[in-house]
Amino acid sequence: MRLVVTGGAGFIGSNFVRYMLRRYDDLEVVNLDKLTYAGNLENLRDIEGDARYRFVKGDICDAAAVRAALRGADAVVNFAAETHVDRSISGPQDFISTDVLGTHTLLEAVREQGIGRYVQISTDEVYGSTETGSFSEESDLAPSSPYSASKAGADLLVLAYRRTYDAPVLITRSSNNYGGWQYPEKIIPLFITNAIDDQALPVYGDGLNVRDWLHVDDNCAGIDAVLREGAVGEAYNIGGGNEVENLALTRRILELLGKSEGLIRYVTDRPGHDRRYAIDCAKVRALGWEPAVDFEAGLERTVSWYRDNPGWWRKIKSGEWREYYERQYAELG
Ligand code: NAD
Ligand code: TYD
Repeated sequence: MRLVVTGGAGFIGSNFVRYMLRRYDDLEVVNLDKLTYAGNLENLRDIEGDARYRFVKGDICDAAAVRAALRGADAVVNFAAETHVDRSISGPQDFISTDVLGTHTLLEAVREQGIGRYVQISTDEVYGSTETGSFSEESDLAPSSPYSASKAGADLLVLAYRRTYDAPVLITRSSNNYGGWQYPEKIIPLFITNAIDDQALPVYGDGLNVRDWLHVDDNCAGIDAVLREGAVGEAYNIGGGNEVENLALTRRILELLGKSEGLIRYVTDRPGHDRRYAIDCAKVRALGWEPAVDFEAGLERTVSWYRDNPGWWRKIKSGEWREYYERQYAELG
């Protein structure tokens, strides 16, 4: 099987490439990635020499690059996206280009080349926020941020390609992922690395927003299940079943690192900040998948990963990240 993964140099994509190469011997993986600020070839250093793996630098909005990368592929999994909500609020353009138009470029190539399977990696954020209950795959899409609106736009295009052209598409919508190799702009790696350095942990608003945490290894297993067993034209929610308030998460990170709660700083809330995400995952469970990583153990393992790999994140934090951080968190002074 020849698999094209886009965005494979990012957090989830790199974990997925590693997961698939470990799990299947007879697999070839092509990783098409533009290497934006979030793309990092160091995430895949350990498999660079694997003869079954090939990296191609390219943009999913570039039709010629996409056509060339997809030639001969049996399946495509699209992770490539602009992914950070706060960056989408300060500058939505790249989100619309990559997340919407890039998905369209891929769908066109899949159609032209008659590729057998296309999995769109989406997010539970397309459903918007709910204070009660949980969203199923049939729930309305009601995105709040330019990021989630772009992802919802992509989902609608994917589903339209199924109805109109009978394209062999599937969608996964996962909750918030955590684990190693996550860019330190998302809350867990940002707070772990700030705490290690005794820097402030900027909690938005009252800190009582709720996210459902899914270990990245569990997401990889879920995506693999959908890729192999999912029904064409269907979307699948993938969640960890671990709803945690941001403040409780922050306190646990500080505790695991033996740091003081005095590092917590309440800062101005994110505009349009979704209060709570929650998804019903019965549909993917019916494919035989279930999360295997206990949240407490997974968080401990993740804290250890950042403690043990300071070279990885210190290099990031000395680059573009610093400028972004100073702009985003100006009120920290
Ligand atoms: P990430 O920001 O860590 O990585 C994104 C990758 O995409 C990077 O390697 C980047 O270089 C690449 N990329 C960006 N624009 C590109 C373009 N135009 N062409 C080619 N490559 C491009 O993202 P992530 O957290 O690994 O998320 C991966 C996917 O999963 C995204 O589609 C995201 O919407 C979705 N998702 C993420 C989470 C999460 O918690 N991180 C949760 C649900 C869904
Ligand atoms: P984030 O990791 O950006 O993921 P998402 O917005 O896609 O869910 O944020 C997770 C939660 O943490 C969200 O409720 C916003 C909050 N948050 C903070 O309180 N402070 C921060 O510095 C960041 C980055 C996030």
